Amino acid sequence: MATPVIADCDLDNYLRFPDETLRPRLREVRQRLGETVLILGHHYQRNEVIEFADFRGDSFKLSQQSAQHPAAQYIIFCGVHFMAESADILCAPHQQVVLPDLNAGCSMADMAQNWQVQQAWQELRDAGLADEFLPLTYMNSTAAIKAFCGQNGGLVCTSSNAPAAFRWAFERKPKIFFLPDQHLGRNTGSRLGIALDEMRVWDPRRELGGLTPDQVRTARVLLWKGHCSVHQRFQPEHVERCRAERPGVKVLVHPECNWEVVQKADLVGSTEFIIRQVCTAPAGTEWAIGTELHLVHRLAQEHPEQKIAPLDNNMCPVCTTMFRISPQHLLWVLENLERGTVVNRVRVAEDVKHWARVALDRMLAVPA
Ligand code: 13P
Ligand code: SF4
Repeated sequence: MATPVIADCDLDNYLRFPDETLRPRLREVRQRLGETVLILGHHYQRNEVIEFADFRGDSFKLSQQSAQHPAAQYIIFCGVHFMAESADILCAPHQQVVLPDLNAGCSMADMAQNWQVQQAWQELRDAGLADEFLPLTYMNSTAAIKAFCGQNGGLVCTSSNAPAAFRWAFERKPKIFFLPDQHLGRNTGSRLGIALDEMRVWDPRRELGGLTPDQVRTARVLLWKGHCSVHQRFQPEHVERCRAERPGVKVLVHPECNWEVVQKADLVGSTEFIIRQVCTAPAGTEWAIGTELHLVHRLAQEHPEQKIAPLDNNMCPVCTTMFRISPQHLLWVLENLERGTVVNRVRVAEDVKHWARVALDRMLAVPA
């Protein structure tokens, strides 16, 4: 198929072309931009986008990459908004971060608004309980929430290093205020031996999170009432059905799944962990994978020596915001860069950046 000629730098002109027609043009512009550009791709990106990533990774690995490529003037983040913000916080001042579609957000990150977290902290203060807690936020949160944690002695974690971050926090304070994913928080606490009834859900819509002062006082972990709309769809009965249909199958899930699912799984970990398990297992291992569908399909394609299927074939666990990054958007930002125009730059305000960086640097320094 002939490469389309797109003369106008307006996004609408790019969106008219089918995915497959853009590949040659993407290759050419990528090559011409050379080392001035670094393209990062999260594992949930679609194939038509991830094939242009210089580095693929989970949130943790990509945040490290952002800090390690000073030669690149532009970091094109094929992922979601909080990831691009983290890259902007960690990269050098001469670097600019671009998110090909600014509508690529994360519904979980949106579940903890800065004003809600500030209000919750004030309520804990007013009750004389805040001093006992160290705030810890999952990477999937806005820069403002990361800054809140940094400013209050806390840190960030990803699904790769959550247990280490919990240990770091418990060395400093007796309790953790965990944002915004209740499931990652509960799964991590449980893995470290904390009883379920010592971890209480904080509902930001209710006074004192819907808890009594005594319930807050006796909790070791407060779990913000947030979740991932993709992973929350996996249920224990999916694991049971899968085991009944595929005896001997290994069930591998992401820790954003609920506790009951995680208890029934064989292995639990970040997207990078999931890939590592599949890559290092003996050929012919049978897998049921409970995470975003693009990653599962890609693993099945790239590892024909394994028997890989989604945890449940009747579900379509796609992250619709990750999916917003299209080859059309990628080409649009790259060709604009070539013309000297930076479109869709993600910039974190300097005051927020400072404390968010403190929280991210603490995470990067925690031994995994
Ligand atoms: P990872 O850090 O495991 O890549 O997870 C990020 C994410 O958003 C999962 O939903
Ligand atoms: Fe956010 Fe869930 Fe999408 Fe991950 S999969 S980016 S947590 S909505």
